Amino acid sequence: MKHTILVTGGAGFIGSRLVKKLSDNDYQVIVIDNLTSNLPFVQLPNVINCNVDVRDFAALDEIINEYTPYCIVHLAAIHHVPTCEIERNYALEVNIIGTENLLLSMEKNKVKKLVFASTGAVYSPDYPILNEDETPVDPFDNYSLSKFTNEKQIRFFTQRTAADVCIARLFNTIGANDPNGHLIPDILRQIDPEEETSTIRLGNIHSRRDYIHVDDTANLLMLMATSKNNTGLHTYNVCSSSEYSVEDIVHKISVLLRKPITIEIDPERVRKYDRISQKGNNQKALTEFDTKIFFTIEDALKDILNKMYDFQVWL
Ligand SMILES: NC(=O)c1ccc[n+]([C@@H]2O[C@H](COP(=O)([O-])OP(=O)(O)OC[C@H]3O[C@@H](n4cnc5c(N)ncnc54)[C@H](O)[C@@H]3O)[C@@H](O)[C@H]2O)c1
Repeated sequence: MKHTILVTGGAGFIGSRLVKKLSDNDYQVIVIDNLTSNLPFVQLPNVINCNVDVRDFAALDEIINEYTPYCIVHLAAIHHVPTCEIERNYALEVNIIGTENLLLSMEKNKVKKLVFASTGAVYSPDYPILNEDETPVDPFDNYSLSKFTNEKQIRFFTQRTAADVCIARLFNTIGANDPNGHLIPDILRQIDPEEETSTIRLGNIHSRRDYIHVDDTANLLMLMATSKNNTGLHTYNVCSSSEYSVEDIVHKISVLLRKPITIEIDPERVRKYDRISQKGNNQKALTEFDTKIFFTIEDALKDILNKMYDFQVWL
């Protein structure tokens, strides 16, 4: 058995893939999650699951003290952007107090390595390509504000403790089983596989995003968590460096399903504040961790459709 890695939010969409990958690679995995996303714990022999809320310092600290992991990957958060706007206090409590609890417990128990899931949404929307060490950050909603604050909390933690920290700025991660109401689950929910054509209702269809398959995200997080200790704070984009509009995604799904899909604009779904583009540069992460992006957008969509409808998609 290799090192022990603790994953908060390890029952979630990205966390469950990361936990499985770590387990497959012979790491001992400790998961902390309170199951608010309604996905189940991953049940594997070398995975210990703890139903704990990151806002509960005593419970969190007891687990970190018991297992003193080599690295903690902190994914637990309220991530759904509309929920972060409607339940503002709750989102800030989980994301900011939860993160502070974790950092305090790490400091107390001398855990020196952390990988933190931040977001590409912390960058200022005014730049065509987002680079970790050059592009200014400028959060513009409650969710990205919480992640920006987390990055600051972690910077102070690194200064206090000389820890080894990777801030992973994740871009739009896609895959089957996404519990949050993101674009692709929203599109697929509106398509009836039995019908020959479909009409779907969407909001901002021209916004472009950098989509990355969840297995590629989990791969990069695993490499960060298991890399040799490298004291200091390091920030990496976790993205594909390719950008597609909502219209492009609908078109690609339509081709894969061989089904005409018409888009109707639903004014209720149009976000008032929406950045037109969010494209990251992934060279720093790919070079440093000597890896690549395995899924093209077509591969990623095929994988989602295969798992969702459980039938073979033909091109
Ligand atoms: N999915 C994306 O596209 C994306 C993009 C950027 C950043 N991120 C970040 O990556 C991380 C994982 O995202 P995800 O897509 O897997 O989301 P997710 O909602 O599937 O996972 C979050 C997990 O945290 C758990 N959780 C929530 N509140 C908790 C609490 N108080 N205590 C303990 N556990 C709690 C949930 O039960 C869930 O299992 C999040 O921090 C998210 O902000 C995700």
